[in-house]
Amino acid sequence: MSTVPASASAPVPLPPTLLRFVWTHRRDFVPGLCFAVLRILSIAPLPVIFQRILDVHLPAGDERGILLLSALTLGLLCVHQLCSVRGASLLGAASSRVVLGLRALIFQKVQFLSFGYLDRQQTGRLLSKYAFDTQKVEGVLMPVLNGFIPDSIYSILTFAVLVSLNLPLALVVVLMLPVFAIMRARYFERFRVKNEASRLAQEKLTGTANELFTALKLVRVYGEEAQAADQLAGPADAVARSRVELIAVSTSFGAFSFAAIKVLSLVVVAGGALLAIHGQVSAGTVIAFVAGVPVLIGPIQMFAGVSEQYFTAEAGYRSVNELLDAPYVEAWHGSRRPEPLRGGVAFDRVSFHYPDDERGAIHDLSLIIAPGEKIAFVGPSGAGKSTLANLLLGLHRPQSGEIRIDGVAQAELDLRWFRRRTALVMQESILLSGSIADNLRFGRPDASDEDLRAAARLACAEEFILRLPEGYATRVGERGALLSGGQRQRLAIARALLRDPAVLILDEPTSALDYESERLIQQALDNVSRGRTVITIAHRLSTIRHADRIVVLEGGRVVEQGDFATLAASGGYFSRLLGGQSPEAAASLARA
Ligand SMILES: Nc1ncnc2c1ncn2[C@@H]1O[C@H](COP(=O)(O)OP(=O)(O)OP(=O)(O)O)[C@@H](O)[C@H]1O
Ligand SMILES: [Mg+2]
Repeated sequence: MSTVPASASAPVPLPPTLLRFVWTHRRDFVPGLCFAVLRILSIAPLPVIFQRILDVHLPAGDERGILLLSALTLGLLCVHQLCSVRGASLLGAASSRVVLGLRALIFQKVQFLSFGYLDRQQTGRLLSKYAFDTQKVEGVLMPVLNGFIPDSIYSILTFAVLVSLNLPLALVVVLMLPVFAIMRARYFERFRVKNEASRLAQEKLTGTANELFTALKLVRVYGEEAQAADQLAGPADAVARSRVELIAVSTSFGAFSFAAIKVLSLVVVAGGALLAIHGQVSAGTVIAFVAGVPVLIGPIQMFAGVSEQYFTAEAGYRSVNELLDAPYVEAWHGSRRPEPLRGGVAFDRVSFHYPDDERGAIHDLSLIIAPGEKIAFVGPSGAGKSTLANLLLGLHRPQSGEIRIDGVAQAELDLRWFRRRTALVMQESILLSGSIADNLRFGRPDASDEDLRAAARLACAEEFILRLPEGYATRVGERGALLSGGQRQRLAIARALLRDPAVLILDEPTSALDYESERLIQQALDNVSRGRTVITIAHRLSTIRHADRIVVLEGGRVVEQGDFATLAASGGYFSRLLGGQSPEAAASLARA
């Protein structure tokens, strides 16, 4: 599957309509379509052959002629069969390729969407676009390319044949067609509206269901199954209702079109019979018409189904394109790579507020972090510590001010390049389902087994890993559900260390650990801190004892900074924080 290259740009939106999109892929479909058309050409002469057998060779008693024409028909049917199989497989493969490309584009685009936008999206909705809407697009390609288009050509050729056999009878058939056109126009609009409603309802349902399934544990331990079921019932009901309305619209049109086609067949057969009685048309011609009429009206009959599929696909396509068109991309990627990264960071009068948040998370903050500095952020919950880390990684863009990395403004920096040289241990460690080794290697895909073990040892994770039934090959479950919180945290630290980053950001790296593991990890972090910038965010003061500098944040502003001893003596927030710890702990910390 396509991966996002290091400095790729976000995918550009696709053509506005599905038709134009398919047109841009026309080259992919040409070989399959050629076989589909050949398939049609091979059987188009059949009405004429039937007519000749009955009108020419039968009256003449020409058995040889009849057998020859039958052999010819069999030969044509063989060609038809071969072309059908080949055409269908070529078109099927081409459709799959096109949809595969569409899915890759969606995933690529999601990688570029800003978190200001993504944080507001239900993951399930994105999934729905990725999995279902693309499937709808695929769902229309085969029926149209392999069915509707060749069958329409078949129908037109057959009409030409019938005109050549008997013009008045052929005209009767054509005159009936406008009725369909009028019905079609009225029906289309209704179907389109209902179909869009149905798609939105489906997307909402997937979104809500995904959220609730992810929160199964919360629901159960709160005993709130009824509330969860209620939350899901609304969207599920809406989907059911919209489906019923959609089915009502399409069946009413289906019933009409069935009746209309039967009437048309009756007109042709009865009219043909009447003309035959008056000697105006031969029996062979009537037989040819009877054989030809289903071919003629085949596409019309298909039209209802195909147009339904088309509108479903068009809605799916628009939904995908909406995402590909979303303007909320991290548009501030530049191309500069200050190689080698030394890890100096400057916040220059940075202010930032999340979308729809009036109060703001960071206010006019200036701070310089020297390359190789060990800096710690402390402050009350909601002070903006994690936000600062997110800003540094360019996950959000400040509304004013500038962040410079080794002197290069973030807007000019190749952010992906920068991120690949940093590591973040998040507040909530995110693991992927897969083995322990897989999760560690996410940090550095080319790491050797020995590298993995070294990183795990540093993060005090090796001991518990070796006690697991399959060691490094043990699977951790979805999001690491089979591990304890502290184990997940140690894996996350090992994964970060494995990257050997120039800038290491630890957002409460030891919050889920017991005192002993915390002490060990602290030791390990101190060991690996040499030669890199380390930014630690912590509530526990023991974690930041050895920091070169401690910055106290409150309400998105720097309120104090200095080393541990200075701050402890200052009588400000930090010393109050220190006072809040147990007396022994505070005393031992102050001594250290
Ligand atoms: N994705 C988000 N969208 C909107 N507002 C957010 C988002 N993340 C955080 N905030 C708000 O921004 C402010 C700062 O949050 P932040 O996560 O940086 O705090 P913190 O200092 O890391 O707190 P904690 O110690 O609890 O982790 C808070 O008021 C929070 O409500
Ligand atoms: Mg935080």
